[in-house]
Amino acid sequence: MRSTARACANIALIKYWGRADPELNLPLNASLSMNLADLVTETTVEFLDVPGEDVFVLDGRERSGPEVARVSRHLDRLRARAEVEAAARVESRNGFPAGAGLASSASGFAALTVAAASALGLPLAEPELSRLARLGSGSACRSVPGGFVEWPTGSDATSHGRSLHPAGHWELWDVIALVEEEAKGVSSLEGHRLALSSPFLGTRLNGLPGRLAGLRRALAERDFATLARATEEDALELHLVAMTSRPSIVYWQPGTVQVLQHVKRLSRQGLPVCFTMDAGANVHCLTPAQHRRTVEVELTALPLVERVLSSPPGGPAEVVE
Ligand code: PMV
Repeated sequence: MRSTARACANIALIKYWGRADPELNLPLNASLSMNLADLVTETTVEFLDVPGEDVFVLDGRERSGPEVARVSRHLDRLRARAEVEAAARVESRNGFPAGAGLASSASGFAALTVAAASALGLPLAEPELSRLARLGSGSACRSVPGGFVEWPTGSDATSHGRSLHPAGHWELWDVIALVEEEAKGVSSLEGHRLALSSPFLGTRLNGLPGRLAGLRRALAERDFATLARATEEDALELHLVAMTSRPSIVYWQPGTVQVLQHVKRLSRQGLPVCFTMDAGANVHCLTPAQHRRTVEVELTALPLVERVLSSPPGGPAEVVE
């Protein structure tokens, strides 16, 4: 009744922003992401013999209130499958700052789902694990399969992520410029809800099928220039929708703009690099493997960048013991 699993965070090139069904975490639009091998959450779940309160320890600190409630709600979905009522002790470690726009909820719920299913002896295939992870946090369904993962628009409860290419398909690096390590002010949960109030949401949704098709093709052909254009457009549109929601959400910090300007400058000079941002201030800069060091050096030198983390594409969520 005890198991440990690891799952990668993922960075969306086409973002999930806005939900068609908030209960089931069904997205208004399809999204596409890359798992990040070096941004990993490792979670151990142990079911005890008795019913009772679950315990949730994250990064060495026992959590209470809404944090443990969200984990318990997720464990309930797995307990219902296994028809057990046992309380659990969950211990989770993030190898990166939590809540800073680095999608710790994606790796967190993917690792929790896979560890809990294994601890309960549930023989679930990847699509089913991805579906369950989605109920914990939408983007977590993309951290269950490996490599480059698409989460199609799903109109029913079976919606899940599926791998388009394994991690080894293309060694793109994500060089993340951290400009703020504090947890963000507005959660993505709130952002998804407010997205519906933006007058620009419809414009974004109309353009997405074409962008997604272009990005799929760019990935298949390892065409960086096309990937870069689609990725930047999509990130800017997510933030446009957030900034024009009512009330508005501004995730950017001065450092965000400094990095965006610098990436545009480097790209004008011919360096293959592009940016994207999740619901936070930090900037993810994608570049082919051979340019990774240059991008790291350039970003580290910016005055408002606190530090830089880098990662190549990562594999699927897996049980480690
Ligand atoms: O999975 P959630 O509900 O935390 O939403 C994730 C939203 C973004 O990270 C901003 C975009 C994405 O697709 O990962």
